[in-house]
Order: sequence, then C-alpha cells, then structure tokens
Amino acid sequence: MARNEKLKLGLFLFAHGHHVGGWRHPKADPSTAMDFSKYINWVQTAERALFDTVFLADTPAMMGYKGANTQERPYSGYFDPVTLLSALSTATSHIGLIATATTTYDEPYHIARRFASLDHLSGGRAGWNLVTSWVEAASLNFGRGAHPDHVIRYERALEFFKVVTGLWDTWEDDPTYLDAQGRVCLDFKKVHPLNHTGKHFSVQGPLNVPRPPQGHPVVVQAGASDSGRDVAAQSADVVFVAYPTFEEARDFYQDIKQRVARHGRNPDHVKIMPGVSPIIGRTQEEAEQLLAQLQNEVPVHEAVQALSTRIDFDLSLYPVDGPLPEIPETNGGKSRQKLLVEMAKRDNLNIRQLAQRVATSRGFFSIVGTPEKIADELEYLFVNYAADGFNIMPPYMSDGLDDFVNLVVPILQQRGLFRTGYEGQTLRENLGLPRPPDRAAQLDVQQAA
Ligand SMILES: Cc1cc2nc3c(=O)[nH]c(=O)nc-3n(C[C@H](O)[C@H](O)[C@H](O)COP(=O)(O)O)c2cc1C
Repeated sequence: MARNEKLKLGLFLFAHGHHVGGWRHPKADPSTAMDFSKYINWVQTAERALFDTVFLADTPAMMGYKGANTQERPYSGYFDPVTLLSALSTATSHIGLIATATTTYDEPYHIARRFASLDHLSGGRAGWNLVTSWVEAASLNFGRGAHPDHVIRYERALEFFKVVTGLWDTWEDDPTYLDAQGRVCLDFKKVHPLNHTGKHFSVQGPLNVPRPPQGHPVVVQAGASDSGRDVAAQSADVVFVAYPTFEEARDFYQDIKQRVARHGRNPDHVKIMPGVSPIIGRTQEEAEQLLAQLQNEVPVHEAVQALSTRIDFDLSLYPVDGPLPEIPETNGGKSRQKLLVEMAKRDNLNIRQLAQRVATSRGFFSIVGTPEKIADELEYLFVNYAADGFNIMPPYMSDGLDDFVNLVVPILQQRGLFRTGYEGQTLRENLGLPRPPDRAAQLDVQQAA
C-alpha cells in the first residue's frame, strides 16, 4: 500500500536524551543543558536531514523537585522554549520551531504576541504546542490555588485558542501604504479590535504585532483523553501522541481524523505524529546491548520515580517486584496514566518491569534494532495510517540523533517515504498545511452585526 504524501519528521529535543539513563551513557554529551552551542549543532543536524520540526516541551515548574535531595541528576535547567527557539531561528533557515506554552498558567495576549514574534523572526517557522499542563506543581508558582480541574483546563484551553487565533487575525495581511515621501506607513483602518468577552477571558485587542507570516503559527496539541481529543480536533494542525503499539496508534489516528471531520475541518490538514524512541545498532544484537547498557545506568528507585511521575501516583512504598496497585484517577494527564495501567495489565508487568519501560520511552513507541528494522516499522505505521509522521526521541545525545540522521533517514529517502529537499519556506508549506485566510476585515462586520 502506498501513500502519495511523504512522512513528516520532528526532533523531540531533550538535552540529555529521552532515556532516563541517557545522560550517564559513556558516549553522552557531558556538558550542561544550558550550553547553547550544542543546541545549534543538534538543530542544524536535524535541518541537514530535512526534518520538519524541532520541538521543545515545557512545564512552568521544577520537575521532580522535593527540596535538597541526594539523588544524582544532570545539570538540567530548562531554557524558556520560545526564547531558545528565537535564538536558534538565526542559526537555521527551514526547520520548523515548535515551543510548548500553557493555557492554564498564561494569558492569550502574551502567547499570541510571543508566537507571532517568533513567526516573524523565523520567516514563518513558528509552532505552538498548546498544553493545559499536566504537572500539578505548576499551580504552586502562580498564586491561583489548586491545579484547576481537567475539564476546566480544557474548557479554558479552547477559549484560549480562539482568543489567540483571533488576535493573530486582528491585522489584515497588508495594512501598509506608502506616503508621498515613500515611507511605509500603517493604515490603522486595517487593524481591528477583537473585543472578546467569554467565560475565562476578556480581551479587547488588537495585537501589537502584525499578522504572522503563516497567518497563524502552526498549532500543536497532545491531549489524548476525551476532552483532549476534542480540543485537538478543533484547534490542532499537528497532533502529538504517545502510544506503544500499532493498534493503539491506528485507533487514535482514526478517531482524531473522524473528530476533525465532525468539526467541519479537513482531516488531511491535521497531521498526527506519534513520538518514537529509536534504539539503533548496526546489528540487532548491538541495539539490544545498547538498550541493556542504558537500562543498567538507571537505579531501580529512579525508574520507579519516573514511573510515579508519569502515572501520577507515588509507587515508591510498594514492593518493586509486585503488581501495580489500583491507581486512583488523576487530575493530571489522564491518557498517559490509562496507557501505562493498560500496558501493565496487557503485558503482565510488575512495577520494576513497567518502570524499566517508562525509563526507556515513557510510554511512547519504542523500536530496538537495525536501521532497516527502524525504517520498516516507521513505514508500516505510516502506510497503514497509524501516523502521518514521527517525533523522533533520541535516547541519548548526540549519537542517538546522529545515528537516526545518518543511518535511518537515507533508507526512508531511498524508499520514497521521506523528502530529499524542503518543499517550501514556511513550516505550513513544508507540512502541506494551508495558510488561514485573512479574516481581519470581517471582525468589524461581525461586531456591527
Ligand atoms: C509528545 C508529547 C509532548 C508533550 N509535551 C508536554 C509539555 O511540554 N508540557 C505539558 O504540560 N504537557 C505535555 N504533554 C502532555 C499533553 O499536553 C497532555 O497534557 C497529556 O497528554 C495528557 O492529556 P490528557 O489529559 O488529555 O490525557 C505532551 C504530550 C505528548 C504526547
């Protein structure tokens, strides 16, 4: 079975790699997560390999912080992602730049302005990963009391999305004219207020940044609960997702495309990109050795802590070789908890075994093998409509990225599955997504009505 379009590739960038033990691998880059020069190298490597995007996750809280504890950890501060991508935009020319920003702990005006600015700075390559923040610790940093309810977070997210896209549309595409001296002037009649009043926000507008080159920066969404999927279907151009099996990925793919159609949108204009952790060896044996080596770098209590974070329940007091206890429903991320509980049941895993899986890929698709095997599995997911592309999650840096770029990408290209040159200049053009039409002039008509 063939597909006419090419698959998309994104780099899901963690400075220390995605495997919990990745930073201790003997060949891992030993410098800190605040060393800017290495981000330039990585993003330029991904761009040389013609990746569509580089993606930065974000949480407005110090992850796993419990005061001074003795656990050894890498020096892993997190740059503000839009700031980091703005700097990286000057060292790249084609790759899309996707940053995460929360709708629960930020304001639409800030986010509309920040991503419009990144879109202008990068010549139309910005993307916003719209999240509702699954980490409850974020609530401690913003003086708003408890982490809002899951349903409320998504309700606010949808209104937030409408305000942000509305603000991007407050300027007509070309609101300029030349005066008698040939100076470029702003025609204020072509800049319109938004005048939004809703349940969560009251925003007059207009934005103080012209309409972004892409019209709207690309919107990414990664919620996979029922509410998350519904918001994705109404807002997203790209959907990120974590699924460990082909069947789950395909069911999710079909469900999202159907929901998109139900909301009157074109399913081809929403690209679904699951995360994939590739553990690559020149032979199958070498790949398995690499995985074992990475696993050996993770003390069991660290793996259990990583599992507890993802499943949103403290498992440290339970016997590690015993079964997973009943896990109460969470107000954090719902879908990842469900996925891990189901994985333990389906594969009959005890806490240690489940923790080891989480240490490798946190519930994302994991492929251990030769470059051909990795390419085979990606091709299978793609041609059978379980994915439109993949977010590649190197287990450690930089070899984990280099091996994918040097060994797997050429195979995908030889098979005609992946591009051999960028198709366009903006991220929307490269993803094959239309530019949203200029609707600024309609704002006044809507308000007059
Ligand atoms: C690839 C991927 C990246 C994500 N990045 C972030 C992130 O940076 N910050 C965040 O708060 N949540 C992030 N999430 C979590 C989602 O936004 C969402 O909260 C989570 O999948 C739970 O959604 P649900 O409650 O709808 O199940 C990410 C999820 C995926 C699959």
